[in-house]
Amino acid sequence: MPESDDTQTLARLLRSRRSIRDFSAREVPAALVDAILDDARWAPSWSNTQPYKIAVASGALKEQIKAQLLARYDAATKAPSGGPLDKLGALLTREALPDGDFDTRIEYPAELTPRRRATGFGLYATLGIAREDSAARSRQMRRNFEFFGAPVALFVFVRQELGAYSILDAGILLQSLMLAAQARGLGTCAEGALATWAGPVREAFEVPPNHKLLCGLALGWPSEHAVNAYNPGRVNVAEMLIPEKRD
Ligand SMILES: Cc1cc2nc3c(=O)[nH]c(=O)nc-3n(C[C@H](O)[C@H](O)[C@H](O)COP(=O)(O)O)c2cc1C
Repeated sequence: MPESDDTQTLARLLRSRRSIRDFSAREVPAALVDAILDDARWAPSWSNTQPYKIAVASGALKEQIKAQLLARYDAATKAPSGGPLDKLGALLTREALPDGDFDTRIEYPAELTPRRRATGFGLYATLGIAREDSAARSRQMRRNFEFFGAPVALFVFVRQELGAYSILDAGILLQSLMLAAQARGLGTCAEGALATWAGPVREAFEVPPNHKLLCGLALGWPSEHAVNAYNPGRVNVAEMLIPEKRD
């Protein structure tokens, strides 16, 4: 059966989207951000409840949030016990104690750890950072809180009471935002790291009660930096499928 234009376009967008971790300084016109949001709002959700809200920061407001997040990151990584740290799990100093709505310090099950490690090591190798260079790894981690130089930062909030399914709905929204941006030549990076501290975002926006900060999203024009071509790959379909029981 010949593939339709839609099939080819969607496959290309899905397969070529990469997390962008270095953005050019070029601004993103507000109308373009609006167009992305206008497409992404068509994401499906359970009972069409659309149990999420998005805060969009650019310009001076984005700079204010960035400065506050960086101050917290710097305070956290100057912990006298640890020196330069590269893991959010180590952010334990009093003044930089995470105040996020969700715990971003996730313990991964053993079977997923190799994927996580391979992705991290591949990223650092692309950046020319040696595994044992914890100071350089910390500098790279710090870039999360600068939104990797993106001119726009989005923050996705979900209704707390709805539990797993509101988070599932928000995930579909997140991918819709990323693909709507990708289709326009823009780049994105989903950033769970941006949920570590909710205070700076709550200070900048009228976040409705019961809405919890789930994830951030950096948005802008990809730079030419090699990091943007880093592709950690995926397991193949056979590895993703659950086999039938055999007796
Ligand atoms: C929910 C979510 C949170 C993520 N958080 C971060 C993050 O905090 N920092 C980061 O550099 N990448 C983050 N990523 C990007 C993933 O590392 C990336 O999607 C994955 O390695 C696959 O690479 P690709 O997006 O380039 O295909 C996140 C992705 C998702 C979906």
